Amino acid sequence: MSAMIAPTRMEEVDPLPRYWCAGDPFETRFLEAMSLLAPEVERFVIGAVRAGAGGAGDPSIAAGCAGFIREEADHSRVHHAFNRRLALQQINVPAVVARVRRLMKLAERWLPVSGRLAVAAACEHLSALLSIWYLRAARKDRIVCADTRRMFESHAREEISHRAFVFDLLRRTGGGGLAARVLALLSVSVAGAWCTLRVVGDLSRRDPRQAGSALSAGGLFRLLRSEDWVPFPALVRGWLTFLRPGFHPSDLPDA
Ligand SMILES: [Fe+2]
Ligand SMILES: [Fe+2]
Repeated sequence: MSAMIAPTRMEEVDPLPRYWCAGDPFETRFLEAMSLLAPEVERFVIGAVRAGAGGAGDPSIAAGCAGFIREEADHSRVHHAFNRRLALQQINVPAVVARVRRLMKLAERWLPVSGRLAVAAACEHLSALLSIWYLRAARKDRIVCADTRRMFESHAREEISHRAFVFDLLRRTGGGGLAARVLALLSVSVAGAWCTLRVVGDLSRRDPRQAGSALSAGGLFRLLRSEDWVPFPALVRGWLTFLRPGFHPSDLPDA
């Protein structure tokens, strides 16, 4: 596992241009939502891996878990630094992420360890898909801040390279059957889409050039149809691979 780029002091305090992704309000807000949600999802995934490590029945797993947790914590640290730059635009970060944090805490409280690991594996599958999508997209070259482009690119590469870790841990603890994968992928996809659109809506509402959350679904539709991002059928095919009998994350391409 490689190391993420370290944020410099300047990167932490420099304000961002208003529409730093291709001058497009929705695409900028969408990527900002990804950055705001990343540490929340990573906190859940790290908790599930910690809880599952003891049940794997193999002390050698502990070293792998420690490396994985370090890498995800590193991602969160870099995104927190970026998110502090969003706070310079008067974005109340804790309020914006409160909804998803509540949802994650509910899942942590009520799901058994196997369920938490299945949800974490589904999160990692979606992370790997989004990462492949991002690395292939011509549009990312229109991100005007080089450090922001590098942050998303480094994160995407590391998500792809460790995409099998949680799934393998889930298998070693006896989980990962088809029913669990279907339930986990559906719930993560629905909750993930809802939280992302709500965060985009919250960010947009403050912006006089955007009409607020009502435009979010339309913006997402435009983004998914854009050839500069990803062809929608490819995204659906990648999503469905998780449900195939005998699926393993290594079935996904390296980007
Ligand atoms: Fe990550
Ligand atoms: Fe990850």
